[in-house]
Amino acid sequence: MAKRIDVQGLTAYYGSHKAIEGITLHVEPRSVTAFIGPSGCGKSTFLRTLNRMHEVTPGGRVEGKVLLDNEDLYGPGVDPVSVRRTVGMVFQRPNPFPTMSIYDNVAAGLKLNGTRLRKSQLDDVVEKNLRGANLWNEVKDRLDKPGSGLSGGQQQRLCIARATAVEPEVLLMDEPCSALDPISTLAVEDLIDQMKAQYTIVIVTHNMQQAARVSDRTAFFNLAAIGEPGRLIEVDSTEKIFSNPSVPATEDYISGRFG
Ligand SMILES: Nc1ncnc2c1ncn2[C@@H]1O[C@H](COP(=O)(O)OP(=O)(O)OP(=O)(O)O)[C@@H](O)[C@H]1O
Ligand SMILES: [Mg+2]
Repeated sequence: MAKRIDVQGLTAYYGSHKAIEGITLHVEPRSVTAFIGPSGCGKSTFLRTLNRMHEVTPGGRVEGKVLLDNEDLYGPGVDPVSVRRTVGMVFQRPNPFPTMSIYDNVAAGLKLNGTRLRKSQLDDVVEKNLRGANLWNEVKDRLDKPGSGLSGGQQQRLCIARATAVEPEVLLMDEPCSALDPISTLAVEDLIDQMKAQYTIVIVTHNMQQAARVSDRTAFFNLAAIGEPGRLIEVDSTEKIFSNPSVPATEDYISGRFG
């Protein structure tokens, strides 16, 4: 199920603006990797290149390779829609389908994939994933109400349930807890911990404690100056990054001296 990610020399542009440059990174299956770094260094951009969401932005293009178990996601003939099915994503801002019910939001991906399930099986999938995202108790009596009627934090947990329901092989999460209270944050961290038995997970976070709690490896990104492209500065075991990083800029960032 879980797949290995090998990124080789990846550069991403918005039109003529080079947002990130020359990123080479390996992510082991069944592990959690945290991306950290100051605002604007390209963490979200890089994350979106890992499931071909970057090219959805007008002017968005990449150079380099992203291999998923040796298959280049940018190779000729690869269907970006099927890539996004295999590599799921939870966005920085919650984006439930506004007119769809809570139930249908969770079931949406399965229906799109053409997965045929009996109603009772679908009910089980919806319940399991809403429980996993720590949302079930809050919504079980109003599953037929629109997803847009939930609070911001509830919407984010709904989006997590929607992303996990299709059982992707890789799950990308862009600051999934930035709108959550501490209890939901811990619930999502528990969920990530459980999910890594099955999935390859990459999470962007501005919360150093969160990176230290949930991730096996941490990648630090930075830019040399405003307007310069973001680069991967250092990637290592999370323990090493937070106790004895090799690069002084990493130390400065994690100890709060900049960013
Ligand atoms: N749609 C876009 N069009 C043009 N430039 C963009 C677009 N999205 C991001 N950028 C630029 O790309 C660079 C990297 O942005 P990105 O959102 O990837 O940073 P980030 O590290 O995720 O920041 P944050 O921590 O604030 O979320 C920035 O200079 C940003 O202005
Ligand atoms: Mg971002």
